[in-house]
Amino acid sequence: MLTNVRRIKIKHNGDVLHQKPGKTNFELVYDLEDPREYFGTFRGLDYCIPSHGQRVFSSLIEARREETGKKPLRVVDVCCSYGVNAALLKYETNLEDLYARYGSEGLAALPSEALAEADAAFYGERRREEAPEVVGLDVSRKAVSYGVRSGSLDAGFAENLEENEPTQTLCRAVAGAHLLTVTGGVGYITERTFGRLLDCVTSGPEGRIPWVAVFALRWVSYEEISDALSEYGLVTEKLEGHTFTQRRFTDDTEREYVLEELEKMGVDPSGKEDAGWYHADFYLSRPIEEAGTPIETLLGLPTTS
Ligand SMILES: C[S@@+](CC[C@H](N)C(=O)[O-])C[C@H]1O[C@@H](n2cnc3c(N)ncnc32)[C@H](O)[C@@H]1O
Repeated sequence: MLTNVRRIKIKHNGDVLHQKPGKTNFELVYDLEDPREYFGTFRGLDYCIPSHGQRVFSSLIEARREETGKKPLRVVDVCCSYGVNAALLKYETNLEDLYARYGSEGLAALPSEALAEADAAFYGERRREEAPEVVGLDVSRKAVSYGVRSGSLDAGFAENLEENEPTQTLCRAVAGAHLLTVTGGVGYITERTFGRLLDCVTSGPEGRIPWVAVFALRWVSYEEISDALSEYGLVTEKLEGHTFTQRRFTDDTEREYVLEELEKMGVDPSGKEDAGWYHADFYLSRPIEEAGTPIETLLGLPTTS
């Protein structure tokens, strides 16, 4: 969890945003009627972790597909927002297309409901042949609702598992899922959300234990989460020798805070955070008997050992 709150203020579109330590607060764009401001804000910071997610999660889905044959594979995207990762996994599109789409003049004047309809048509023409089913979870009610109406999410739940037990409807929707994914969410969610979700996912009739694929910023500890996952028989591995750009820092305050945290952790920021970018590590958790193939092989990367 983010602690030690050191509030400063920055300006965004005329509104004041408060900053938590090490990370600007983007809450004003998390829960709007449609994703245009979300994409506009994050495009300006070269937010790109969903792009890495598209590549990495797609490879994992491919690897898991052997188990399901022709049946669609079920993914639970946690901190799903407006359904960004879902759109990238299900449809022939990419993050650049989405940034261009939501920033386009042609769509700027559309009311939110008309945009959701236009998105449903846009996505409908681009469905991948073997698109997974994606269930989204996020605290932002309007964002989740948009994700469902636009067709990006197959189902969506606005629940806060940091604070509450999941509803039975959420529990049933995620039971038996094959893969849990997270980009940009660790820090907002802790082991509490993972534990509550895994209780539901593993309650499916087949008793399947999902793979858990998470990008987490390098200065945020993943230890408590991997400990919690181990209670469900999951072994967590970090992809070694490779980090992923998340976005540029908004300002020097963010940068300096992160550099200090990394120094305390003994992590070398050279060419990464000290060059102005948040970097994330990638963690994959699998049941031990399914963890034989190295992550690098699954992702088509050269092996480090
Ligand atoms: C940086 S955004 C990441 C969204 C998306 N995954 C992406 O990469 O574009 C963080 C998201 O976490 C959500 N969030 C914050 N606290 C949460 C919680 N307790 N449970 C679920 N989602 C939460 C926010 O509403 C927001 O949509």
